[in-house]
Order: sequence, then structure tokens, then C-alpha cells
Amino acid sequence: MSEFDITTPTQEPGYETAMEVVFQWNYDPEVEELRNLYVKAAEAQWIGSRDLDWERPIDLVKFATTPLGAGVPIERTSYWRSLPEATMVELTRRTAGFRLSQFLHGEQGALMVAAQLVNAVPHTDAKFYAATQTMDEARHVEVFARYIEKLDEIRPIAPSLKGILDQTLQTGDWMKKLVGMQIVVEGLALYAFRDMRNLTEEPLLKDLLTYVARDESRHHAYGVQYIERCVPCLGDAQRIELEDFALECARSLIDRNAQGFFTTLLGIWAEIGVDPVAMLTSLQNEREEITRDLPRGRRLGPVQGFVIPTLRRCGLLSERVASHFHGFLRENFGTRVAGESVEEFLQYLPELPADTARWVLGEMQ
Ligand SMILES: [Fe+2]
Ligand SMILES: [Fe+2]
Repeated sequence: MSEFDITTPTQEPGYETAMEVVFQWNYDPEVEELRNLYVKAAEAQWIGSRDLDWERPIDLVKFATTPLGAGVPIERTSYWRSLPEATMVELTRRTAGFRLSQFLHGEQGALMVAAQLVNAVPHTDAKFYAATQTMDEARHVEVFARYIEKLDEIRPIAPSLKGILDQTLQTGDWMKKLVGMQIVVEGLALYAFRDMRNLTEEPLLKDLLTYVARDESRHHAYGVQYIERCVPCLGDAQRIELEDFALECARSLIDRNAQGFFTTLLGIWAEIGVDPVAMLTSLQNEREEITRDLPRGRRLGPVQGFVIPTLRRCGLLSERVASHFHGFLRENFGTRVAGESVEEFLQYLPELPADTARWVLGEMQ
């Protein structure tokens, strides 16, 4: 017998959640778009161990094309360009190990939220869809863990991410779960997957992210299609509460990330002899010229470029909450990104892509 035990040394202490479980006695299709999405999801199932070529070793030189996702264009500084190739490769490997670990832990959170949704949402079609998503998320956890173990090591979850997962799991309101997970967390993830998937030239990572991103674009569609049906049925107080929940989720990820995430990256880089002070000085001195010729479309981050447009589409972007979003984005990223006024901020917001799956795969802007 293997050493099996009921409690494992790697698990965290459990916590109480406020979720309500709802039976539904109408089994007929009712929300047609969700029923269609469920069928589509069933047809698109794939198997991590069969459909990805795990035998292929990771090509570390090609891997160096993987974006760092540092939030600032570190790669364009003269300090970065002066690093020996071996250091650059190592730096990319460890940075990606950290980012992919956050994706991995986020996937575990998504797995548990999706399973909760099966219990908590009141419509049969929505329960069915959440069941397929639960399966998808289990597969995502499996493949990310396997890839990271091949690449580097699994690093701990960032406190800001853990906070939002806890909040989403703990709330008793299934609409908040949908907003926190399907719109905020998955919106951010989709944006990051898209960037990493389209820029990396490492074949296994590219394949893996292609499969995952297709699933994720369905998860996002589920959130949008379900929530946009629900919002018009809400009273003002309930809608305001939901808007504020979305705002708080986005804020807790961005605000703390703005310092915490970057500090963690600097710590990881210091492990291999990259001098954080020299790197930051180089960034400071060359800021003007490295940001001048950045493409316009890249100015918006995931919150402004994707999460807020999703909320607007769902009817969760009142003027009131838009001004709060504008305020915190301006504090974090300045007026060049967030705009001088709420009007300018709203003007900048892009429309959601008509076909998210094609957008994620870089087939449309
Ligand atoms: Fe996922
Ligand atoms: Fe997902």
C-alpha cells in the first residue's frame, strides 16, 4: 500500500463558506445560449496527457521570447540588453515559473468556484454549463502543474490572488461568484494568456495556452451571457452591491499587485544576480524613449482593456462605479493610461471582441 492518509501535509486548513444549494425541477432548456455553450463545451473536451506532446523538452532559447508580464517595459532597457544571454534565459524561465504558478493556483480557485456554481445557480442550463467548466478547470490545473514542474518549480500563491479567491469562494451570493470569477479573475487571466500565448515561441507552452485559452473564452462567455440576463432583473441596491463587488475584486488585484507583484519579481531576479537598483535606474533614465514608440493598443492593461468593457457589456458599469474605477486606475497608472476625466476614461474603453476565442488566438484585434 502507498502511504495514503486522510489529511495531507500540503493542504491548508479549511474555511466556512456561505453558499446556498439550490435544486431546480425544470429540466427543459430555458436559457438557450447557455445550453448551446454547454454542448459546445462538451464537444471541445480534450485530454491533457494525450493531446499535448510532453516528451518534447522545453526549448529554453525559444522560451526567452515569453513575455515577462512585469507591467513595465523592462525588456527595452539598456540594462536588460546588456545582460548575458544565459542570464536572460534564466530570468525568463524563473519569471515565467512565478507567473505560471499564479495561473495554476488561480485555476485551482476556478475549479472550486465552478463546482460551487453547479450547486448555487438556479437555472438548469447554468448548472450544466458550470459542470463542464469544472472539468475544464481540473484539466487546466493538471496541465499547468505539469508544465511548471518541467520548467522550474511551483512558487507560492501571491496574497492578492489568494484574497480574491477566498472572497469569491466565501460569498453566499452566486451572482458575486460569477462576477468575481467569470468576469474579473478569468478576464485578467484571458488577457494574460493571450499575451503569453501569442508572443512565446516555446512550442509546448504555446500549444498548452492555445487549448486553455479556448476553454477560457467559453468561461468568459458564460459569465457575460448569464450576468447580462440577470442584471436587468435586479433592484438598484442589489445592482450597486454587485458593481461594488466587481470593483473591489479588481482593485484588490491591481492595487496590491502594483507593488507586491513587482517586488516579488525583483526578488526572483536578484536570485540570479540581476541588480534591481541598476535595472530600475535604467528604466527611470530611459523611460521617455522606451515608451515613445510603444504601440497605442498596449497602453491599456487587462482591467481597462478587458474587465471593465465586460462589466459595461453586462450592465454593471454605472457612472458611479466608473468614476471609482477611473480614480484607482489613475492612481496606479497615471492619467496617460486612465485619462484625465471619467469621460475621457470611458472614451478609451474598447468594445469587447465579437469573437473572444479568435481574439485570444491573435486572429483579430
Ligand atoms: Fe481555467
Ligand atoms: Fe476558466
